[in-house]
Amino acid sequence: MKKAMLTVAIGSAIFLAACGGGKTTTGTKTTASDGETIAMKSCITCHGGELQGQNNAPKISDVGSRMTEAEILNVIENGKGTMPAGVVKGADAEAVAKWLATQK
Ligand code: HEC
Repeated sequence: MKKAMLTVAIGSAIFLAACGGGKTTTGTKTTASDGETIAMKSCITCHGGELQGQNNAPKISDVGSRMTEAEILNVIENGKGTMPAGVVKGADAEAVAKWLATQK
């Protein structure tokens, strides 16, 4: 019984992730859906719904044109200015950095 429910939970998680990635893909840009999904959940509160920048948080929807994946990861892990460190961690942080590095 427990096992069956777990399978359903995992199944719908994969399904939802796939859907979320497809929905937020714009134009002809190809995106790594995981990183995008995480960014859309964890970064938009400060950086804006389209990561276009708002208040004190800069636009990061094109951050890949000025920062490398490693530099972005460094900001996520260590924070910058008033941006707190560790908004997302570990594999999530890496996925977001990888996706953002492709946003130019
Ligand atoms: C609590 C608000 C907040 C959240 C949440 C937040 N940021 Fe930021 N972020 C900022 C602010 C403010 C800055 C500007 C820091 C500075 O330069 O003083 C910034 C700067 C950055 C920069 C550097 C951009 C540049 O041009 O120098 C990157 C990259 C970045 N954020 C990525 C992210 C990612 C990815 C997430 C989600 C995992 C995220 N941020 C979540 C507030 C936030």
